[in-house]
Amino acid sequence: MRTLNVELAERSYPIRIGAGLVGDPALLLPYLKTKRVAVITNDVVGPLYLAPFVADLHALGLQVTEIVLPDGEANKDWPTLNLIFDGLLAARCDRSTTLIALGGGVVGDMVGFAAATYQRGVPFIQVPTTLLSQVDSSVGGKTAINHPLGKNMIGAFYQPRLVLADTRVLNTLPDRELRAGLAEVIKYGLIRDLPFLEWIESHLDSLLARDPEALAEAVERSCRNKAEVVAADETEQGERATLNLGHTFGHAIETGMGYGEWLHGEAVAAGTIMAADLSRRMGWLGDADVARIRLIHERAGLPVLGPALGADRYLELMSHDKKVSDGTLRLVLLKGLGRAVISAEATPAQMRASIEACCA
Ligand code: NAD
Ligand code: GLY
Repeated sequence: MRTLNVELAERSYPIRIGAGLVGDPALLLPYLKTKRVAVITNDVVGPLYLAPFVADLHALGLQVTEIVLPDGEANKDWPTLNLIFDGLLAARCDRSTTLIALGGGVVGDMVGFAAATYQRGVPFIQVPTTLLSQVDSSVGGKTAINHPLGKNMIGAFYQPRLVLADTRVLNTLPDRELRAGLAEVIKYGLIRDLPFLEWIESHLDSLLARDPEALAEAVERSCRNKAEVVAADETEQGERATLNLGHTFGHAIETGMGYGEWLHGEAVAAGTIMAADLSRRMGWLGDADVARIRLIHERAGLPVLGPALGADRYLELMSHDKKVSDGTLRLVLLKGLGRAVISAEATPAQMRASIEACCA
């Protein structure tokens, strides 16, 4: 088992990574407030992992409430969030109940938001079951639901007590979801870790073949990057925004296409190509850099062209981005491979040109 720490003073917590950790729930015990827990999952992950997990928790003497949500990004909304509160209240879960998110980023983001607000805050633990959630969403305490006008618009910063990333559960993940997770892995290489980008380039085939050692290494190096950024800038006053490379374009794709049509990682991939193209137009990346970025995404089986929503629609959707401040949109761009910047320098005409060049 590999362990990293997210260093946030009194809110610090470990990330444990390894094969079979879901089958070892004793790892959770030191992080529970009392013997009362609520396990929240969805109707895809539940049939695969919930029953043995809950049986193991019972065997440890815990009182367990189970809540199963409908699957999917389209359900990352108020009515589904309310199902968590319905379940917690019906079971009379009190303030010392620890919520356990068993699922991908959608479950993790919603359970985190529920934990931040249920009875003004209860502890929670992330047990991420997708590659994307293991390398990104389970770490760092961003929690949210979507609004029809924008992705992740309603939420809170609220840190988990523990992240338990079991690489074995990735064996049941559909190929398309594995590839979507790779988009966020590649992101860390592009924004701040060139040696990691080179490692991904040379181990991409092993990752796609789900080689357990390669996956554990990718999860650990991704989480180490994320933990460093979060420790330096928990509430995104500056550097943390670089974790959103490709996301402003990507969130426009997800919202514009309807939640769930494009997977988050797919939208981030196409958005990253747009950000790279724009960085080239700013004179910050060379043609060879952009070609290299496109190639690694193509090799990972990710889309390198966005959907044809029209540049006007993209720009309109992007104007709702959380990085808009005082009416000015700031974008994460690259000033070289491994070096992200947050910039308000790109003009709408340059953005439009990149969108048009990078859409189907
Ligand atoms: P997801 O949670 O929808 O999971 C993808 C699919 O895989 C779902 O159908 C899910 O039920 C299924 N699944 C999960 N684990 C499985 C397993 N082990 N075997 C078989 N199927 C499994 O999507 P995701 O890619 O994990 O997360 C995307 C979400 O994460 C988006 O809503 C995005 O906004 C959010 N996100 C949040 C952060 C953050 O910092 N909080 C960062 C990145 C992304
Ligand atoms: N995924 C972006 C962040 O956590 O800040």
